[in-house]
Amino acid sequence: MKGLILSGGKGTRLRPLTFTQAKQLVPVANKPVLFYGIEALRDAGITEIGIIVGDTKDEIREACGDGARWGVRVTYIEQPEPLGLAHAVLTAKDFLGQDTFVMYLGDNILKSGITSLVEKFKANKPNSLILLTPVPDPKMFGVAELREDGRVARLIEKPKEPKSNLALVGVYMFDRHIFEAAGAIKPSGRGELEITDAIQYLIDHGFEVQPHLVSGWWKDTGKIDDILEANRLILEGIAGRIEGTVDAASKTNGNVVVEAGAVVRNSIIRGPAIVGEGTEIVDSYVGPFTSIQPRCRIIRTEIEHSIVLEGSEIVDVGARIDKSLIGREVRIYKCPPKPSAYRFMVGDKSEIGIK
Ligand code: DAU
Repeated sequence: MKGLILSGGKGTRLRPLTFTQAKQLVPVANKPVLFYGIEALRDAGITEIGIIVGDTKDEIREACGDGARWGVRVTYIEQPEPLGLAHAVLTAKDFLGQDTFVMYLGDNILKSGITSLVEKFKANKPNSLILLTPVPDPKMFGVAELREDGRVARLIEKPKEPKSNLALVGVYMFDRHIFEAAGAIKPSGRGELEITDAIQYLIDHGFEVQPHLVSGWWKDTGKIDDILEANRLILEGIAGRIEGTVDAASKTNGNVVVEAGAVVRNSIIRGPAIVGEGTEIVDSYVGPFTSIQPRCRIIRTEIEHSIVLEGSEIVDVGARIDKSLIGREVRIYKCPPKPSAYRFMVGDKSEIGIK
């Protein structure tokens, strides 16, 4: 069985971060979202992995390399335009050949991994296995309607009036019949070859599509709130580890990771939280569910429930920073007292909340 991770697309809902970075490389608990997918496939015994890439192919390639670090072999497959998930499957046809495969959306994280699901697929041998989970806002997802006997009746992509609250999770298993289905469907209203339509084709043509309800949490990290929530959920499970320097005037509570080369001085870190390599935390408070990436400086500042990306500096911020996603090499600092004013240099599509 092979793996196919989809890491193309545009990531418009995460602008401005995605102007300069692939959305699948945004870190959750200081690890790119995409790596969780690679690890889930590897843990399920899948070592031949194709990664669909688009405009951001160079940075995805640089981040994942040949896959040796995970003990897998990665092949990059270029999709010239993000024309839909079923289009991505067709693009990977040569790589997938006649093998069964797991398709994993590169911006998804599943807490419980996929090992038992892969085993279920191998044992039952349906033509496709899809994962479903109840969500409060089904309009944002592909939605499944089940028949009374539990089989799938209909799948609709982002319906205006959802008939159920069962969303399609971004992990699917297929055999070679998906190529016939993806080749037969037409682009949707938004101009994409939808995987939901291809699976509907399988259902309508008598192929076996098995639904499986996901029990652990699942996150599609396409939006800021979802990234912060995924960060919270992953941090909840981390074990504390202090490899950097924490001085005697500082205190850490709960599960706190301080990576090698990080320095914490006269500060409080309340876990779960992670402080990346070479980061400095001075006279500050870092609260629960915060991930600070390498080479940042947090000076005389309070921050919690947030993610700060590599190389950023936050100095003398008077109020507590909460529920924020701060990009790479950002500077947030206190202005001189006169004139009393805010001062911004903010990229396109940024968002700033002031109290
Ligand atoms: O997350 C689950 C949802 O994912 C499902 O409920 C939906 O049925 C499914 O269509 C999908 O919806 P999204 O709108 O979230 O898909 P998105 O455009 O974010 O693409 C998912 C991943 O696939 C993302 O990592 C980008 C990549 N992608 C996307 C397209 C359209 C590609 O590699 N190529 C593409 O052509």
